[in-house]
Amino acid sequence: MYSETVMDHFTNPRNVGEMEDADAVAEVGSLACGDTTKIFLRIKDNIIEDVKFKTFGCGAAIASSSMATELVKGKSLEEAAKISTQDVVEALGGLPTQKVHCSVMALDALRKAIEEYNSN
Ligand code: FES
Repeated sequence: MYSETVMDHFTNPRNVGEMEDADAVAEVGSLACGDTTKIFLRIKDNIIEDVKFKTFGCGAAIASSSMATELVKGKSLEEAAKISTQDVVEALGGLPTQKVHCSVMALDALRKAIEEYNSN
């Protein structure tokens, strides 16, 4: 049902945790299931130097958050904001249709964090 990449990022998620002195933080919840994801960003010269996440959610949400953080690390804020759910799902080798909503939270949190950073 799940790809090897999904299982790898679920059992060994990258960039899990919190960040002290983050430059931007945002949390979002899924209306579909009530789970949440929080993203922490360290930004320097418009580049995401480091990123951490905490996801209270299912395995697909944890794997998606892990992959999303890997995809945005080292990118400019503009490049990171352009990464789509489809990019995350493709990088994971696919997700069952009913789990795609789980992959949306990390990017929503990321975009919210970038928006708040840009508005300061
Ligand atoms: Fe809630 Fe997957 S079921 S994030």
